[in-house]
Amino acid sequence: GFPEFIYYDDELFVESVPLKQIAEKFGTPCYVYSRSALTKAYQEFDTAFVNRDHLICFAVKANSNIAILNLFAQLGSGFDIVSGGELQRVLKAGGDPGKTVFSGVGKSIYEMRMALEENILCFNVESEAELIALNKIAKDMDKLAPVSLRINPDVDAKTHPYISTGLKENKFGIPAREAERIYKSAHLYPNIRFIGLDCHIGSQLTELEPFTQTSKKMLHLLDSLQAQNLEIEHLDLGGGLGIRYNEEILPSISDYVSALCINTHQIKQRLLIEPGRSLVGNAGILLTRIEYLKHTPARNFAIVDAAMNDLMRPALYDAYHEILPVHKNSGEIKDYQIVGPVCETGDFLGHDRRIGLINGDLLAIMSAGAYGMSMSSNYNSRPRAAEIMVDKDTIHIIRQRETIDQLFSNEKILS
Ligand code: LLP
Repeated sequence: GFPEFIYYDDELFVESVPLKQIAEKFGTPCYVYSRSALTKAYQEFDTAFVNRDHLICFAVKANSNIAILNLFAQLGSGFDIVSGGELQRVLKAGGDPGKTVFSGVGKSIYEMRMALEENILCFNVESEAELIALNKIAKDMDKLAPVSLRINPDVDAKTHPYISTGLKENKFGIPAREAERIYKSAHLYPNIRFIGLDCHIGSQLTELEPFTQTSKKMLHLLDSLQAQNLEIEHLDLGGGLGIRYNEEILPSISDYVSALCINTHQIKQRLLIEPGRSLVGNAGILLTRIEYLKHTPARNFAIVDAAMNDLMRPALYDAYHEILPVHKNSGEIKDYQIVGPVCETGDFLGHDRRIGLINGDLLAIMSAGAYGMSMSSNYNSRPRAAEIMVDKDTIHIIRQRETIDQLFSNEKILS
């Protein structure tokens, strides 16, 4: 399942580098990414569009390290951002603001102004109130703001409720009928240029059917807007394609893109997508070392040096991440709870894993490239992990481990 993370004899490698070597040189916990896996995922998306006019906008929230953004920018990628901070990261990484779309329900005035100054491709607007605010800011700056309304298509993404976004009871988007009314009253917004239609129904989708249903609804709306002589230039179908964490059976990237292209073959508009997880998820791991093995009458615990502050998906969503020993067949095989040092029972990385371990062993927490480092925190005053990118036999450090001093450098004692 992980072509760039493979065993040679009993030893786990990333591309041509033994993970052990990375742990010895840079310490643990650390995130390790494969350049080849990142590149292959991007290229699978890109080539599947064949001759269709398209733009892939990597969802920066999935992994915002500037080395990763720079790699995608070099491959021709655009970006989907949700904050001014993410916009600055894209610019710092050499990304093109002209290929950047701005999503999110709560853009601040300051963020809108920054994005207008940088001439981003499009604002994905999620409410009428936001549209009124954007129109006013654009007017003050003597600009035209390019806009797609984000439609809430009321489709069930059949994924975890915390990451499902396209149901009418979710906070995201605008119902189709209301959006139609707003597009038709475009003259009320002289500083807005309505250039697209947008949606995003959720994350970690394992079936194509909700995407198909959504694109049908979007085409229907597009049709009625065109009948009103509105010039829509692009259709943004959002992100959401899942990855394999465990036993899930998933459509491939190219099947997914082909389905989107087939569903929309009758329109000439440019297609945009906003994939996050499927570009980076299986291109990265979290490398961690066992601090202690602890055997109680009830359970066996492997206490590792990574924790919920480094990878919060298990604690937050009860998410499953495969855990592989960096060196196979070390200790006696037992049923282990893989847990971190943080003071919460929710601080686990895996439950009930059958694995042979000894003190000091290294473990690879798989599928950690998406929503891993980008959701990390300093809880328990733990400095954030280092990030490494491997390119064949070369190891690049792309983020230094945080220092203890950095943890409180912005704090001040009352004078
Ligand atoms: N576009 C929009 C507007 C989004 O809200 C998202 C993700 C994406 C694109 C990218 O979706 P993807 O292709 O990665 O599924 N923290 C959660 C995932 C939250 C997703 C939020 N929105 C997790 O760790 O599973």
